[in-house]
Amino acid sequence: MTNAERVGWLREEIARHNHAYFLNDAPTIPDAEYDELARELRALEAAHPELRVDDSVSTKVGAPVSTVFDPVTHSEAMLSLDNVFDVEELRQWSHRVAKTLQREAELIRFVVEPKIDGLALSITFSAGRLVQAATRGDGRVGEDVTENVRTIRNVPSFLEGAGGRVEVRGEVFLAREDFLEMNRQQREVGAKEFANPRNAAAGSLRQKDPRASARRPLSFLAYQLVDLDGALDFTYYSETIRQLAEWGFLTAGESRVEEGAEAMVQRSSWFEGHRHDLLYDIDGAVIKVDDLAQRELLGFTSRAPRWAIARKFPPEERTTRLLTIEVSIGRTGRATPFAVLEPVVVAGSTVSMATLHNQDQVALKDVRPGDLVIVRKAGDVIPEVVAAVPEAGRRRAKKWTFPSRCPVCGEPLVRRGEESDTYCVNPTCPAQVHEQIVHFASRGALDIEGLGEQRVAQLIEAGLVADVADLFFLRVEQLEVLEGFGELSATSLVREIANATHAPLSRVLVGLGIRHVGPVAARELARQFHSYEAVASAPLEELEAVEGVGPVIAQSVFQYFREEESHDRVARFHEAGLALIEPRDESTLETTLAGKAVVVTGSVPGFTREQAEAAIVARGGSSPGSVSKKTYCVVVGEAPGASKLTKAEEMGVPLVGAGEFEALLRTGRWRDSLH
Ligand code: IVH
Repeated sequence: MTNAERVGWLREEIARHNHAYFLNDAPTIPDAEYDELARELRALEAAHPELRVDDSVSTKVGAPVSTVFDPVTHSEAMLSLDNVFDVEELRQWSHRVAKTLQREAELIRFVVEPKIDGLALSITFSAGRLVQAATRGDGRVGEDVTENVRTIRNVPSFLEGAGGRVEVRGEVFLAREDFLEMNRQQREVGAKEFANPRNAAAGSLRQKDPRASARRPLSFLAYQLVDLDGALDFTYYSETIRQLAEWGFLTAGESRVEEGAEAMVQRSSWFEGHRHDLLYDIDGAVIKVDDLAQRELLGFTSRAPRWAIARKFPPEERTTRLLTIEVSIGRTGRATPFAVLEPVVVAGSTVSMATLHNQDQVALKDVRPGDLVIVRKAGDVIPEVVAAVPEAGRRRAKKWTFPSRCPVCGEPLVRRGEESDTYCVNPTCPAQVHEQIVHFASRGALDIEGLGEQRVAQLIEAGLVADVADLFFLRVEQLEVLEGFGELSATSLVREIANATHAPLSRVLVGLGIRHVGPVAARELARQFHSYEAVASAPLEELEAVEGVGPVIAQSVFQYFREEESHDRVARFHEAGLALIEPRDESTLETTLAGKAVVVTGSVPGFTREQAEAAIVARGGSSPGSVSKKTYCVVVGEAPGASKLTKAEEMGVPLVGAGEFEALLRTGRWRDSLH
């Protein structure tokens, strides 16, 4: 291929992906591969000026404007950011900045922020009132989404003390938790899942009916204040962000002003290390020159400011070949289809299997053996197949069909009523028994050390266990003859199992694997009823009345205790001497904050103001309303108060991100302070 041909091909590819990404909210390749194409095109255009054209996709931001919403012309173009992909390129950028400013790179103030994987939004306020909101569109003209944006809970509708016209720009996104929950709901109703938080956010914001938008848990984070009247007077960008926070906008709590290029580079790497600890998904860090006068000197290229750069982190999505589709049977009998993949490294670990969730999802995604597929880590842990990548001219295998029989025990698989899941309903299915025992022994349940997947399989194989209760009757002589066991390991396993007979009821309830009963519901049930007998004989209404236990969980618990196997199992538990009670006073907390004053400003996710303060007091600390020299630290939540932050900085009191709050409660310490 000649350079001219390659450039032509790249332009077409990029335009095609742009359309899929921006207009259909359905990307066809992982972001990182898209970036790679764009980078190659720009490099070729730079090296061969004769190949440049005026309207190359390389100079365009985003996609054409759709026809669903009214067009809005932006007061100032909404530009994109240039990218760098490693520390070296980032240093080179800082040197270019330093050269233009004729200053040493170590003397420049940079702000380092998370690069949120959402979509850019501009909100205009007039005399403090929200009057218009628009998407970025092609950068010059966006879409009018005012009514939808009014339904976003953390966008203030009135800005105290903001006269005239101001524009606030930032990112609309779905918090990680909200995204996972939305996809869970999509699966439940048999709808197609969203490929990533960005697409889910875009789809949610661009709903034709604002009421539909309102049902989606969108959030907005502000990162730019555009002064439309030229009436504001700020020297630093960081001051404008503080102003935004004072007006009630969410701003990035992890942002930091850094003096000099090296500190800036280090902070950007901090984001890479903590990318999974934040509220939102990030695909990089954004670095901005803090001094607004310096920004003027640096100016813009046609697509991006020269005073800012995005450091993109390695992708968490990869493409690979799907080899076959198989079905695994879980402890509740649920049959989950999964893809066997050509091994590929995703987010630092090798993935060779990925879930396809259920029958409907395979059908919707229409992935087939032999396809090239996009794989991603969902919620950081379980890899999943996002979509198949179309390959022109390649013959595909025929559509995959869900098996009608359990691949392990051969009994028919059943799909009940409206549910999207399929089950093996044979209670003695070896796959189910295996998973139940592994779960029973797992860390979140009875925590029996030395009893993992392999040993459980061995015990079942040897005919020593067919139910969790059988574990308590194992004898050293039976174990020590098995392969891989010796007298020592056999004795130690029997001792571990004997220890587990003292486990509190809540752990046993988790271990039993009752459908829908997780650690929270188990603890509440155990606290309320104290003994196994009391939970087992509780009427439905009493179960439903327990905090954190809704009708679905109550029904499932009620039913579980009325099954014959449950009666047999508990009889054997008694015979083995299990305690099966919840100690009454296990809630004495450690006084990790004894004598320490912790000030909270802004809202800490997962806590109301009162709960956060109560949690501090319960651990021996105090939570005064203002900062003094004696303050141990200030916990900075969403929309923190500027005066507390300033005071803390003046007095040298450490600022701790809201993400550290739980660690602080547990240990009395934090890993990283903000200043
Ligand atoms: S500043 C002119 N800051 O990334 C500068 N953008 O790839 C405008 N983004 O269009 C952007 N986090 O949608 C900025 N902290 C952040 C950001 C951020 C995410 C998005 C934004 C932008 C895109 C560029």
